Amino acid sequence: MKIALGADHAGYSLKECIKGYLTEKGYEIVDCGTDSETSVDYPEYGFCTAKTVMDGKADCGILVCGTGIGISIAANKVKGIRAALCTDSYMAKMAREHNNANILALGARVIGQGVALDIVDAFLTTSFAGWKHARRIDLINEFEKKA
Ligand code: RB5
Repeated sequence: MKIALGADHAGYSLKECIKGYLTEKGYEIVDCGTDSETSVDYPEYGFCTAKTVMDGKADCGILVCGTGIGISIAANKVKGIRAALCTDSYMAKMAREHNNANILALGARVIGQGVALDIVDAFLTTSFAGWKHARRIDLINEFEKKA
């Protein structure tokens, strides 16, 4: 499974931690940057990671900024992206099971590394439940197509 990672300067350190964790578990990583703690603009990394997922160059994505808010807002502007900002593993499980989220967003200034890795595990090991939830995702897709 291939995972696209993206972060701004505030999320850089947590992104590197997630990269090491997932690489050790055998996941393939597409690192969309940033590559240091030098201040950058989070939309660039949100867009780039989201496009990597939409182009099929990764199966899903993980984004990190200070709060996870800005970078998830940016990613959600890319058609077909369902980026979910999660602060615990229950949210991550539901984001996959009910919302078929294809990007997980995390706030490095909000949660610690241990919680972040638990969230990542829940996100990557939960499948979409389909059924009535698929109808709701279809409604979002139809709206997006017309917009
Ligand atoms: C950067 O200071 C911060 O604004 C950014 O990482 C993020 O939290 C935005 O939503």
